[in-house]
Amino acid sequence: MNKIKIGLLGCGTVGSGVIQALEKNKATIAAKVGAELEITKVLVRDINKKRDLKNGTISFTCNIDEIINDPEIKIVVEVMGGISPAKEYVLQALKHGKSVVTANKDLMALHGKDLFEAANLGNVDLRFEASVGGGIPIIGPLKTSLAGNQILKVVGIINGTTNYILTKMAKEKSEFNKVLAEAQRLGYAESDPTADIEGLDAARKIAILASIAFNSRVTFPKVYVEGITKITTRDICYANELGYTIKLLGIAQQNNGTIEVRVHPAFIPNEHPLAKVDDVFNAIYVQGDAVGDAMFYGRGAGQLPTASAVIGDLMEVARNLTQGIFDKSYCTCFEHKEIKPFREIKTKYYLRLTVPDRPGVLASIASVFAQHEVSIASVVQKRKTKQAAELVLITHLVKEAYLQDALSAIQDLPFVTQINNVIRVEDLDDEVRVGE
Ligand SMILES: NC(=O)c1ccc[n+]([C@@H]2O[C@H](COP(=O)([O-])OP(=O)(O)OC[C@H]3O[C@@H](n4cnc5c(N)ncnc54)[C@H](OP(=O)(O)O)[C@@H]3O)[C@@H](O)[C@H]2O)c1
Repeated sequence: MNKIKIGLLGCGTVGSGVIQALEKNKATIAAKVGAELEITKVLVRDINKKRDLKNGTISFTCNIDEIINDPEIKIVVEVMGGISPAKEYVLQALKHGKSVVTANKDLMALHGKDLFEAANLGNVDLRFEASVGGGIPIIGPLKTSLAGNQILKVVGIINGTTNYILTKMAKEKSEFNKVLAEAQRLGYAESDPTADIEGLDAARKIAILASIAFNSRVTFPKVYVEGITKITTRDICYANELGYTIKLLGIAQQNNGTIEVRVHPAFIPNEHPLAKVDDVFNAIYVQGDAVGDAMFYGRGAGQLPTASAVIGDLMEVARNLTQGIFDKSYCTCFEHKEIKPFREIKTKYYLRLTVPDRPGVLASIASVFAQHEVSIASVVQKRKTKQAAELVLITHLVKEAYLQDALSAIQDLPFVTQINNVIRVEDLDDEVRVGE
């Protein structure tokens, strides 16, 4: 049987998982591809690091040229992460006629266009299933099985760390900082958790999904991002009383040829399937005009789940190689759609305010909202001290700009009002009626 030689860039969590899973399922993989897949060289930063690997045929190097200039290596798997030097290495590999499989969302969400151009020029494949949703197949299904649909909306819980934190806060009624510290101790959060808790990781992933879903490139800087650091157990409790769960969502939808793309915490109805996605699990909910609603659920990160996605890509690319073809049409960003300015986006809001407990205050606040076209669906007084009362308000659908202007005006009122929190409410009830 033919052998296809592979160069691996990175041998950390994902890289070592790829080596392990390829070795374990070697025979079946070879039978399915029609060729043996063999990792021959691995690029690492520290060649002296002790690595617990059973595969003794691999040689390690710190010199990328040993992989790029090796004519026997036909596929490069990039699992080193970051933008530089990963981008330069991937570009070099593509230019040298090597197909690339990457798990790197940072790279794809910022430089996807350059990489696809280089792949097409080099007549090679570029695959990136593991860059979104870890082990969950979502990029492949959007590009193939769902390709006959107009995708209307993609809503995802696409960051395991924040989902773990929000789930624990809700179940154990523990505050954010305590749960974050526990997540770090258990290895569910990085020592620098910024990319996760500030929503940046989810923003990169929703940029990739939006580009594929709507055939128009969305890069990471175009995504509106808000993280979960302001969420308190009190907000979670009130959400629950109102029939909602708080989740960090990546949302992409298209209306009249424009794209909305955002990441923020949101109230979602308890009965929605996304509300039941707990702990480190991820899920991506897709609405297509033919398929209706579909949800993809599973492990959004981790050594073997991510390796599973990388190996799936690797096998497809290897199969193409055995047939002497490459998939020139894999990049589907053939349209240009405008991204809606965030201030134009309409959602409902949950507002938690502390106001002086005296006559006329509620009327003044209601009047400011009315002046700014913010219509209130419900107001509940939650707690009362001698001087102050806590109000929980839910608005009807309103433009972000109007809501923000109303909140600024409320802060200018002559009495002191504390805006404790503002969280969007996503009812996700716009079910597609297929066949009507
Ligand atoms: N971890 C997950 O669950 C997961 C899930 C989905 C996607 N991803 C993506 O997969 C990629 C890898 O993540 P990971 O968690 O496996 O990272 P990791 O554990 O930090 O491993 C990174 C590997 O790359 C090597 N490396 C880093 N910079 C290098 C450089 N400049 N030159 C040579 N080698 C270098 C490191 O070498 P040393 O070993 O010598 O330090 C290490 O082996 C990232 O793009 C990440 O976003 C990860």
